[in-house]
Formats: sequence, structure tokens, C-alpha cells
Amino acid sequence: MRIAVVGSGYVGLVAGACFAELGHEVILVDNDQQKVATLQAGGVPIHEKLLPELLARHRGQRLTFSADLRGAVKQSAAVFIAVGTPSTEHGEADLSYVESVARGIATAINEYKVVVEKSTVPVYTSEWIRRVLLRNAAAPDQFDVASNPEFMREGTAVVDFFYPDRILVGANNPRCAAALREIYASMTDGSYYRRPDAIPGPEAARVPPPLIMTSTQSAELIKHACNAFLAMKISYINAVASVCDAVGADVQQVREGMGSDHRIGPSFLNPGIGYGGSCFPKDLKAFRAVARERGYEFRLLDEVMRINEEQREHFLKRVRGALWTLRGKRLAVLGLAFKGGTDDIRESPAIALVEMLLQEGCQIAAYDPAAMERARQLLKAGVEFAGNPYEAARGADALLILTEWEEFAKLDLKRMYGQLKDPIVIDGRNLYDPATMAAQGFTYYSMGRPLATPENAAVEAAPARKIGNS
Ligand code: UGA
Repeated sequence: MRIAVVGSGYVGLVAGACFAELGHEVILVDNDQQKVATLQAGGVPIHEKLLPELLARHRGQRLTFSADLRGAVKQSAAVFIAVGTPSTEHGEADLSYVESVARGIATAINEYKVVVEKSTVPVYTSEWIRRVLLRNAAAPDQFDVASNPEFMREGTAVVDFFYPDRILVGANNPRCAAALREIYASMTDGSYYRRPDAIPGPEAARVPPPLIMTSTQSAELIKHACNAFLAMKISYINAVASVCDAVGADVQQVREGMGSDHRIGPSFLNPGIGYGGSCFPKDLKAFRAVARERGYEFRLLDEVMRINEEQREHFLKRVRGALWTLRGKRLAVLGLAFKGGTDDIRESPAIALVEMLLQEGCQIAAYDPAAMERARQLLKAGVEFAGNPYEAARGADALLILTEWEEFAKLDLKRMYGQLKDPIVIDGRNLYDPATMAAQGFTYYSMGRPLATPENAAVEAAPARKIGNS
């Protein structure tokens, strides 16, 4: 099928490349001429596993880039809207980019097209898109609006696209539903997975993935409800971790005990410094705003957000508890991205903490495997950027782990011990087993687990956190 994807941010770029991989002819549209030129010239603007390979495979063949929205719409049978939906100051989703794209699409419709929302949007956005198309002279029988939310995570977006728990399509009539079915047919009939060059998936992947068809309104709501639920799980375990701290229990053990109940499950129960990123914080606010607008005060979401903010304060308290005064202290910070596997620092709790520590008068030496370039533009003064974790730790009063990068869970502990001025580690992501750290001579603070010191190295070994499939 000929597909236009409008917006070449994380969602649009990955989805566009993946549609091309499924065999469709894709035009990726962006109004940022420079971005289009970069993509045309072979550049990859974001750090995302397997994306460079997919772009190299299809660029200039089944995948082209353009700044011409009208031209792309004219040539395509389906148009995916994947532009940004930032938060307004009141927490609602700002849909002005979506509206302006819808106006652009209306003026180019020359035959039947399916217009598909791919960005996360509030319920009833599809209805608004339909009205905008009609107001801008599109004929009612020349288009349908569908919702096809994605559940890709940054860092594993390509694999998440091909191996989803489900494909969700919201369509209010059979013609439009049939077009969406066709787009995903090679996944739902399993033929994509039999290709020798198919992107390999995780062992536990559900192949072929189920296709869930709903109304457009339900699909829009499912996406917000999922993200809010996942954020709630994180805040829940963070609250449990605070209770563990207060009573001397071990949250890692509590989590295992909870997660083995199949109704709860172990995923998204890693305590830490709170969730961040371009999705959860924005989507929770938008979901709350949608509910409020329709007369429902979703107070549970207020509490999820409050606990999330509080985690940073908890962590800061832990640093103070370890070092007493902060002014003039030199701290090594591992991790700036909002989570491991990405260079994205949007709403990163790690960045927020670095800013709080700078305010307290600390000197920071930071290292992140992918996000330093972006962080450098944001954190102008007072931060040194190191070439590796050991360089960051040289002469530091303590080592702080703020992002769950896999490489931070595999540090050479002897080497690290030799670098630090004081062997103090404050781990905001529970990447290490406390007993091991104590046995290596560290004073080790983590989230929701007892303090481990060389003096109390006999702390019962508790499993460290596994990275990768949270
Ligand atoms: C999230 C959802 O997981 C995706 O399903 C969804 O498609 C995406 O938002 C979106 O709406 O586009 P993402 O923002 O990439 O994906 O990141 P997650 O892997 O969900 O992590 C979000 C944050 O929660 C990170 O800061 C991470 O460190 C934190 N987290 C995650 C925890 O603190 N504990 C956990 O157990 C899991």
C-alpha cells in the first residue's frame, strides 16, 4: 500500500521505516526541511536500536522523505498523523499540529483515503480531525479517520513494532477497518516472520500478534489508559519502596513476591527515581484533563504524579544522608537519559536531579552512553562530561547511578573503587546486589533496600535488578 507518515519524530520515523519493512511504499513527511535533508542524506537523527539498519535497507527505495505534505497525501491511500502533541500549561494535549496537518490533508484529498491517528491523542480527537477535514472541503465519502495507537518503547521501538502484544485499530466503519487490516496483514498472517531477513524478536514474542478492533474512541482511550496504568505501577512500587525504607524491608524481595502473582506480574515494578520521558508525564496530564473536561476528577492520577515527583526528593535526601552537606561536594553521575537505551532527555528525572544538585552547590562529573550531546545543550554551567564511568568517578565524593543503562550494571567494581575518593555509591535504579557491593568495600545506598556497608557485609544477598525486559 502507498502510505504517507506525517511527522518524523520517534513515532513517525520508526513507524515509517517499519511500514517500509513490511513491504509498503512509504513517504515520510516533515515540515522541517533540514530534517528531511538529513534523512535523505543518510543521517539518523535519533538513537534507536535497529533503526539505522532499517533506514539503510529501505531509504530511497520503499522509503522516501519529503517536505511536501500535499504531494505525499495525493500519492497515498493511507495517511498516518504522527506529529507532536505537547502539553499546554494546563496539562491538556496541544493538538494544534494535528489540526494543521488535518487542514493540509483536506486540501490534497483527491480520492478515498484513510487518515490514521498514530500520535497519542485524547479521546474524540478523531472526531475533530473528521470535522476539520469536512470544514476544509474534503467530501465525506472521500475519507475515514481511524485510530492506531502504538505501544513502542524508546530504545526497543523497532522490535516492539514487529512483536507487539497486540495491534490496536480503532475504526468506525468496515471500509476503513479493511484498509488498516491490509496494512498489518503480513504481520497478522505470520508471513513477515517467515522471511529470512525478518527483524528477529524476543523468545517470548507472540507471533503472529493478535489484532484488536475497537471503535476509534475506545482505541484512543486504551492508549491513555495503558500509559496511565503503567505509570501507576511505577508509582505504586516507589511508594512501597518508601515503606520498605521505613520498616527495614527489602523492596526487591517484596517485588518478587508480588510479581509472582500472575494477576500482578513482575514488569514495571522496578523502583527508582521516578518515570520520565516524552510519554508518561504528558499522557497522564492529558488523560486527567480529558476526564476533568467530561466531569470526572481522576484523583488517582494526581497521586501517581505526586509520588513520582517525590521520588527525586527522596533520592536527594539519600544523597544528603550519605554526604551530610552538599556544597562543594564532587559527585560522579552515571546516566542522564530518562531511561537506558535512549539518548532522550525529555522530562528525565536524572536531569532534574543534576539540576537540583547543582543548585545545592555540588560539582558534577557526568557520563551517559548516548545522551551527553543533548544534555550538554541543556546543562550549560557546572557539569563536566566524562568519556566513561571511571573518568567521571575520578576523585568523586560519591557515585550516583541515575539511569538504568545495561553497562552501568556491569561496572568493573575494583576499578571503580580505585577511582572514587570515598567508596560511596548511591544507586537510584537498584542495579546492584547490596551484599556484593558491601563485600567490594562500598557503602551502598539504594531505593527501598537496607544500607549495605563493608561493616555489615553479611546482609543477606538479595537479587539485583535485571535490566532489559521491564
Ligand atoms: C512508554 C510505554 O512503555 C510504551 O508502551 C508507549 O508506547 C510509550 O510510552 C508511548 O506512549 O509512546 P517509553 O516512554 O519509551 O514507553 O518508556 P518506558 O520504558 O515505559 O519507561 C518510562 C519511564 O519509566 C522511564 O523513565 C523508566 O526509567 C521508568 N520505569 C519503567 C521505572 O522507573 N520503573 C519501571 O519498572 C519501568
